[in-house]
Amino acid sequence: MITTASAPGKIILVGEHAVVYGQPAIAVPVWEVMAHALITDLPAGSGCTLIARDIALHTQLVDAPAELALALVTRLTLAHLGLPLDPDWQIEVHSTIPIASGLGSGAALSAALVRAIALHAGQTMTPAAVSELVFASERLYHGTPSGIDNTVIAYGMPVWFVKGQPPTTFTPRQPFTIALANSGIAAPTKETVGDVRQGWQAEPGLYEARFTAIGKLAWAARQAIEQGKIDQLGRLFDDNQALLAELGVSSPPLEKLIKAAKATGALGAKLSGGGRGGNIIALVQADTREAVKAALLVAGAKTVIVTTVGG
Ligand code: PMV
Repeated sequence: MITTASAPGKIILVGEHAVVYGQPAIAVPVWEVMAHALITDLPAGSGCTLIARDIALHTQLVDAPAELALALVTRLTLAHLGLPLDPDWQIEVHSTIPIASGLGSGAALSAALVRAIALHAGQTMTPAAVSELVFASERLYHGTPSGIDNTVIAYGMPVWFVKGQPPTTFTPRQPFTIALANSGIAAPTKETVGDVRQGWQAEPGLYEARFTAIGKLAWAARQAIEQGKIDQLGRLFDDNQALLAELGVSSPPLEKLIKAAKATGALGAKLSGGGRGGNIIALVQADTREAVKAALLVAGAKTVIVTTVGG
């Protein structure tokens, strides 16, 4: 028997970093990039093989180190579902989601893996249960993850997220389109999260005021999305970007991409995710999307993905 399962990438629309400190954030799935897992039965006694060609990984599960996230998620899921801990399966994962760029590649691989294991065993899992298992692997990728990546990827819907609270999914009043430009700069989220923490420890009052201001923008963005006020959402992207720059997580290459998007008619633009490198997102409309896309490529974007949220 062969089983396949997938999970989307994700972007944070508003609220990154502040979300680590208890403020709300909004994230949406990106279906243009995906992670996939495929499980095939092997002859009895073969044990479980784990393959990820993208990272040249080919190992028996029993030999995989504890800190290998894919192995960790596999073990946790097998145990969670009450399955044998070394089943006679070949598990192969692959992904079109760029790594270390704020698109949730690690969480998506884990989510695809959890779903494939459950399906292969003939069991069903709720998005909440998938999310919880993926969170365990996120702890390895990031120091203190808020849990937003595993949530949006497991639910596959726009998510309103507050750390430690059950997530809420919600639906845009009208679809809107985001151009997502990858700077090509790999910037580990763990580092930017750590730097923001240092800033907060040095100047708690100042940083907490910034986090609170970002939280207010997230509330306003949710309202704008639920009421279909897309112009307003664009302005909120710009305000959020200004605060992210004050937190020290923007960078000249990201600012250049943001400026290019705005100059060609984007309604708003900001970095998305951990910052410094990774992606920027620009809110575009039917008549500006091609110009914005071209300008982003000229300004140094390695790739531009256009994705529609809602609808
Ligand atoms: O870099 P990403 O997209 O995985 O997002 C990180 C988001 C942060 O708020 C910076 C950290 C977190 O755990 O929420």
